[in-house]
Order: sequence, then structure tokens, then C-alpha cells
Amino acid sequence: MKVGNWYSFRGIHVSLALVALVIFTTLLWTWENNPIITTLRSTQEWYHMPSEFPVEVPVESVGTTKVKKSEEKSIAPIKENRTKVELDIVRPPAVDSIPTESPKNQYNQDVRSSSRSEVCNFAKGRWLADSRRPLYSGFGCKQWLSAMWSCRMTQRPDFSFEGYRWRPENCDMPEFDRSAFLRKMQDKTIAFIGDSLGRQQFQSLMCMSTGGEESPEIVNVGWEYGLVKHRGAIRPDGWAYRFPKTNTTILYYWSASLCDLQPLNSTDKNTDIAMHLDRPPAFMSQFLHRFDVLVLNTGHHWNRGKLTANRWIMHVDGKPNEDQKIAEMGNAKNLTVYSVARWLDLQLVSHPRLKVFFRTMSPRHFFNGDWNTGGSCDNMVPLLNGSEVMQEGSSDSTTEGALTGTKIKILDITAISQLRDDAHMSRYTTRGTLNSSDCLHWCLPGIPDTWNELLVAQI
Ligand SMILES: *[C@@H]1O[C@H](CO)[C@@H](O)[C@H](O)[C@H]1NC(C)=O
Ligand SMILES: *[C@@H]1O[C@H](CO)[C@@H](O)[C@H](O)[C@H]1NC(C)=O
Ligand SMILES: *[C@@H]1O[C@H](CO)[C@@H](O)[C@H](O)[C@H]1NC(C)=O
Ligand SMILES: *[C@@H]1O[C@H](CO)[C@@H](O)[C@H](O)[C@H]1NC(C)=O
Ligand SMILES: *[C@@H]1O[C@H](CO)[C@@H](O)[C@H](O)[C@H]1NC(C)=O
Ligand SMILES: *[C@@H]1O[C@H](CO)[C@@H](O)[C@H](O)[C@H]1NC(C)=O
Repeated sequence: MKVGNWYSFRGIHVSLALVALVIFTTLLWTWENNPIITTLRSTQEWYHMPSEFPVEVPVESVGTTKVKKSEEKSIAPIKENRTKVELDIVRPPAVDSIPTESPKNQYNQDVRSSSRSEVCNFAKGRWLADSRRPLYSGFGCKQWLSAMWSCRMTQRPDFSFEGYRWRPENCDMPEFDRSAFLRKMQDKTIAFIGDSLGRQQFQSLMCMSTGGEESPEIVNVGWEYGLVKHRGAIRPDGWAYRFPKTNTTILYYWSASLCDLQPLNSTDKNTDIAMHLDRPPAFMSQFLHRFDVLVLNTGHHWNRGKLTANRWIMHVDGKPNEDQKIAEMGNAKNLTVYSVARWLDLQLVSHPRLKVFFRTMSPRHFFNGDWNTGGSCDNMVPLLNGSEVMQEGSSDSTTEGALTGTKIKILDITAISQLRDDAHMSRYTTRGTLNSSDCLHWCLPGIPDTWNELLVAQI
């Protein structure tokens, strides 16, 4: 092309703008019409991932968050190095190391805010009694709260667990203010992708953002994301709602394993399902370009029982997995968490406005048995085991390890929530036929509200 001629042309600005517009529109059109392109590309990048496994792999006991001391130690130095490097690059030397009030336009200051959250560890701090909690009433928010998680609607006699907030030791964490939050999220989309604990966090954010008040103006936009109830299904795979005043969208998509799931026989209702350990959920690749904030989680479906019940068959590299080592649950989960993290880290290059958070494992508190053998969590006195978290690293070593060296932020709630055995559904669960307690899900309002306060402070 004769570049020189362009510069002598009088209407240069108009022409360039037109050309840009045409190219942009074409690109956009191609993208919208061929989400498959994204998927194919992703899959390709995906395959470059090395999947070597050490011979001696400690298999995580499913659903618990115990971490061996040695693992914690081996991770901490890596993190320190990463912090140092980032600080050297992005921080002007004169800036004080103590984080100050976040600037108004912080949303677009990717570099700065990422260094800020590295400097200050939101997961280190203490629970404090606070009469201004909860952030919405458990008698309200009927529009967004599932009845099964509304403890105020059960026979539970004590609600002291509602009256606490988390105070990070070294970070400034402004009070959650719903109008400020929605203004900050103007024209933006927040997506939660994960298991039922992710759904709890989604419902919590809906309640926090509405203050639990009736909000008939909020629009169900699930159809925009294909989140509709299909014939025969109990419910859709997710939900999406838009706040019309600020054009903020909050959505949740159920992906308990963060794997791509593909039925092996699309005409058979009882078909086995290929669970691609090394491919992100198709929903995520398809809609990633529409998200501004993405919050992932996984954890409690990585056990043999869930896999069998869901008819999930592990696949790696597009083929049924035959590697016995990968087949071990802890290793399969590790492979997936690392794969998702690596895939998203690559995607961030082409999605500069996107912020990705990986929420760490939500702890369970079954005592004297497991979920199906009469385990319970009857304590209703808050913080019997102390109110502080002083450790530097996360108690969720898998997630922490997978995020090391990526631009994905850790939303580390494991140790914080570990102190809150008093705040589960416990025996007041309205769900299930088993004579047992729910020491996995949390009462709402409750602990997932704190997760969202930590999230909002870091967006
Ligand atoms: C990280 O820092 C520690 C000391 O703080 C050092 O021993 C180690 O070699 C560093 N690792 C890397 C990868 O730079
Ligand atoms: C609403 O937000 C979306 C981004 O989520 C944007 O594409 C759209 O233009 C906005 N609509 C209006 C009416 O501002
Ligand atoms: C798929 O399922 C249908 C209905 O059960 C069955 O008739 C068909 O043979 C299956 N196809 C394959 C390739 O297994
Ligand atoms: C998890 O996978 C990563 C990447 O393959 C590997 O480096 C790490 O050692 C694995 N961790 C465990 C506990 O298996
Ligand atoms: C409290 O701490 C003790 C000792 O570490 C532990 O055995 C117990 O399970 C903890 N209780 C809760 C509710 O976490
Ligand atoms: C159900 O739980 C209650 C209280 O934990 C116990 O007393 C009762 O025996 C249990 N019933 C069955 C059928 O296990």
C-alpha cells in the first residue's frame, strides 16, 4: 500500500476514521457470528500447556482445606519474589508502600491496582463485631435469595453470626456502599462462574446491590447469554440480571468443575459427559469478551461420588484420560485449576479491560461425620477458635500455586471463612432427604457477603 499518498489527502482524518470503523465493524461482526473462532483459538493455546506431573503428588483430601506446612512454605517465597518484581516495574520509587484511598478512576489503572492488591493482603486481618451488619435483611431479598439458604426463614434460633465484618490488617477497605458500587460498575458486567458456592456469592451480591429491597426495575437478561430453562431441566444453567439505572449486569453460570462438558451422545438423555480437564467451559470462552469482572471458583465437586452421579468422564487432550496419575481426584483438579488459570492469563492479553479473580476454596465444617454420615456443625458461638488470620500465604495451595506468575487475582477467603463454623446452614437446612446438616453452604446474609466486600474492594 502506498502509505505516502494517504498523508497528502485532505480528508485524512475522516478517511482513517472510516477505515477504522469498517475494520472494527467487520472484526466485531466476525466475532459475534463465529464465537467458535475464539473457542478454536483457545483450544489451540490450551494444548501448548505442559502437563507434566511429579511422581510424588500429595492427593488433596476432597473438600477439606488442610495444607501441609511444607506446601505453604514452598509457596511463600515465590510470591514474595513476584511482588518484588512487580513493585520494581510498576511503582514509582517515591510512592509510599502503604496503600492509600483508591483513586476515583482506579478502575482503568490496571497496573496500579494490581500492585496495590499485591502489597496488601486482604486475607490477613480479623473479624470484628459490627452492629451495621448484615448489609441486608435475611427477611428481605426474597427476590434473589434461594429459600434453601435463607436462614431467617428456618427454625434457627440464633443469628449472632450476622454481626461481624472482616477487617484486613494492612489494606484500606472502604465500607460497601451499593450506589457507589453500581456507579463504579456503570456499563459493566460481573460474572461468577463456579459451583453452588459461587451461586451463593452471586445471590449475596444481588442482595448487597439492592440492599435486599424489592427491585422490580431489574431486568432478567439471561436470554442474552443463553441462560434459559431448557425443556425438562429443573432450572437454567445460570442467571443474568441488569440494573437499568447504571446498566450493570451481574450473572452467574453453573460450572462446578470449570471444565468444558460435552455430552458424548447428543441424542441420548442419559449420555455420559466428556469432562475436558484441560479446556475451559464453552460458556466462558464464548462470553469472555463481554465480561469486565470474572470470579471463578471450584472445589467441592472433585470427588468420585459427584463424578459418577454427573456421569462425567475425564478427558485430556480431547481423548478419554488413561493416565492413572491424572485420574486421581487431587491431580485432576490440579490439572484443571492450572489449565483454567493459564488459559485466562493468555486471554488477558487480548482482553485488557477484563479483571479475573479466582476465589479460593470455601471450607467445610463437618464434625463427627461427613455430609452423608451425620456430620454436624452445631456451634453457634462466633469465633470460638479465634478471630484472626495471621498467615501470609493462602490455605488453598492449589489455587495459590496456579495463580502464581499470572495476572489473575486471588480472592483468598479460605482461612477467613475457616474461622466461621458458626455460619453454615447447619441442621436448619430445608433441603435434602438425608438426616444431616449442611456444613458446606452458608447462611445468607452471611459469609459470602464478606467475600463480596473483599472482591469489591479489589475491583
Ligand atoms: C526468591 O527469593 C529468594 C530469597 O528471597 C531467593 O532465594 C530465590 O532464589 C528467589 N527466587 C527466584 C525465582 O528469584
Ligand atoms: C450497557 O453496557 C454495555 C456493556 O456491558 C454496553 O455495551 C452498552 O452500550 C450499554 N448500554 C447503554 C444503553 O449504555
Ligand atoms: C446415541 O443414543 C441413541 C439413543 O439412546 C442411540 O440410539 C444411538 O445408538 C447412540 N449413538 C451412539 C453413537 O452411541
Ligand atoms: C499441579 O500442576 C502443576 C502444573 O502442572 C504442577 O507444577 C504442580 O506440581 C501440581 N501440583 C500438585 C500438588 O500436583
Ligand atoms: C478449632 O481448633 C482446633 C484445634 O486446632 C480444631 O481441632 C478444631 O477443629 C477447630 N474448630 C473449628 C470450628 O474450626
Ligand atoms: C436424625 O438426627 C437426629 C438428631 O441428630 C437423631 O436424634 C435421629 O436419631 C436421627 N434419625 C435418623 C433416622 O438417623
